[in-house]
Amino acid sequence: ARHLLGIEHLTQEDIRTVLDLADTYVDLNRRTVKHSDALAGMTQINMFFENSTRTQASFELAGKRLGADVMNMSMQTSSVKKGETLIDTAMTLNAMHPDLLVVRHGASGAVNLLAEKVNCAVLNAGDGKHEHPTQALLDALTIRRAKGRIQRLTVAICGDVAHSRVARSNLILLNKMENRIRLIGPPTLMPAGISEFGCEVSDDMREGLRDADVVMMLRLQKERMDGGFIPSEREYFHRYGLDAEKLSYAKEDAIVMHPGPMNRGVEIDGTIADDINRSVIQDQVEMGVAVRMACMDLLARNLRQERGRALTEGT
Ligand code: CP
Repeated sequence: ARHLLGIEHLTQEDIRTVLDLADTYVDLNRRTVKHSDALAGMTQINMFFENSTRTQASFELAGKRLGADVMNMSMQTSSVKKGETLIDTAMTLNAMHPDLLVVRHGASGAVNLLAEKVNCAVLNAGDGKHEHPTQALLDALTIRRAKGRIQRLTVAICGDVAHSRVARSNLILLNKMENRIRLIGPPTLMPAGISEFGCEVSDDMREGLRDADVVMMLRLQKERMDGGFIPSEREYFHRYGLDAEKLSYAKEDAIVMHPGPMNRGVEIDGTIADDINRSVIQDQVEMGVAVRMACMDLLARNLRQERGRALTEGT
């Protein structure tokens, strides 16, 4: 494929290919390799229209470790602020001949639209409530390294499912890899008809966490609740926040995940988040670099092949 726009376009084999390649970018000390020339001579532009710490930093680091020329567009100071549209902005950057565009945008579908207009590979770094494919892939790699497999696991995804592109991409990936998925959260934060995706739905943390292998917490995304019901943080933590008592319903060796940024004391107790025997939250960040290196490496190979074919056909 030319782009990485969502997990929904990937097969089981594609997912394994990414994870296997990402594994080769992590050494025995769980450090991502520092240098390769997989993207040598290529230009990567990161366009983040929404805030980010982990995704932007790890895409930048991944590109640099693969030898690309990496440019971070500062969207806050760009001509977007003067009213330039997403597509005009993308076409302007496209005219500078980048090879890879990494895009985060607040509107679902915006990255797919942009991908239709440019000549390079586009990686979706999160679009609205739609998809965050590299997050689901890094979560899968973290699970596989902790549990030794990425199928036949019971995974509980908890909290604000309705506003979460992380939940959506994970749900699609974990389903494709034949896991048992439970979604737990208040009915007001659960998308209508979600059980049709082949998962169990519950509003009771203790029931939903029972015998889970993986407990994946989600951030309460107040910024996406425009005018809708916003739960009180105290009440939310009481009913849906992960603490030691609720976690005791999961398997004894269950791992705890959170994509970040975390609201400590809202969706997760700080002591659970920091418990190195249960929490793999820092591993998720580490695997993020390796997975993004693998995704860009694979897309760059496809791009080189495509350009090679075009050259041969043109001569
Ligand atoms: N998980 C994630 O996407 O984090 P950032 O918003 O910090 O990139």
